[in-house]
Amino acid sequence: MTAHARRIVRQKLSDEPNAGLAADVIAGLSAHPKQLPPKYFYDAAGSELFEQITQQPEYYPTRSELEILDAHAGDIAKLIPEGAALIEFGSGSTRKARLLLRELRTLGAYVPVDISGEYLHQETAALRQDFPQLNVVPVEADFTKPFSLPESIAALPRAGFFPGSTLGNFEPHEASAFLRHAGEMVGANGVLILGVDLVKAPELLHAAYNDAAGVTAQFNRNLLVRLNRELGADFDLSAFAHHAFYNAHKSRIEMHLVSARRQRVRIDGASFQFRAGETIHTECSYKYSVDSLRCLARGTGWDPLDVWTDAAGYFSVHALRRSDEV
Ligand SMILES: C[S@@+](CC[C@H](N)C(=O)[O-])C[C@H]1O[C@@H](n2cnc3c(N)ncnc32)[C@H](O)[C@@H]1O
Repeated sequence: MTAHARRIVRQKLSDEPNAGLAADVIAGLSAHPKQLPPKYFYDAAGSELFEQITQQPEYYPTRSELEILDAHAGDIAKLIPEGAALIEFGSGSTRKARLLLRELRTLGAYVPVDISGEYLHQETAALRQDFPQLNVVPVEADFTKPFSLPESIAALPRAGFFPGSTLGNFEPHEASAFLRHAGEMVGANGVLILGVDLVKAPELLHAAYNDAAGVTAQFNRNLLVRLNRELGADFDLSAFAHHAFYNAHKSRIEMHLVSARRQRVRIDGASFQFRAGETIHTECSYKYSVDSLRCLARGTGWDPLDVWTDAAGYFSVHALRRSDEV
């Protein structure tokens, strides 16, 4: 696609409700290699599929993190000030937050932040039913960009919760930017509880992102389903295959969609050529050691307070406090 054609399509799509999605997709598919931001996995169907992934036998991260939170919810609760607002970044099913909320009886507010609006509001309704005393203040936002917190929590002390190793979906420079931003949000002396997947044997990692039931493959392809529906794209779903592998050099899982043949895909006037075997890089999931995460945290204004791992040593939950010198 020429630069001129791209400009016209961008102009056309910028008038529409999905302008941000369209601009990112056009930029991503015009790049070499082709790529799409992982945040677009999460429409309502994507959020449901992610929940199904967490129940697959090969997908250890959720079970491991739940084991840690179950064992240490009391220790974590002691780090969160009375009357605080607990801000969860990428709250999803809120299953992990619930383990903390049971221990946080004097919480001022629970603020689930998620880009997947429909799913966020559905989970908020369920949470309000199960925790009728809790002040739940949902925020539909993209946390990779600046966003405002509700006025109603402005006067409360704050703590952050970022489970699910969602930090691993960021490139290292994006992870740094996110941690700095989270530090500004929780303010002086604020605490962040951060769940991060650990480096481990490649076979275990490979199996976790290639479940036998094919749910991760469906989650990956759902991105194309979304682009067909929301942008009028004409991706042939049967012509793109899920491919996930561990890149040991970069300590990350990479997820791709591989074009089965030479083909052209149209998105509302724009067209993108694929060679057979060419991929769209859809997600990274960086794995950290306890030390490498602590190093990243220190460099972005956080002091490590504590860290817990599961019995198998697969996953880590860090408690960080915003350092004074920021
Ligand atoms: C890997 S899932 C983790 C879900 C849940 N926290 C857990 O630990 O099971 C990532 C979550 O973050 C949300 N998310 C991803 N990118 C986001 C973004 N840029 N802004 C806000 N939410 C985002 C997704 O909708 C999803 O709920």
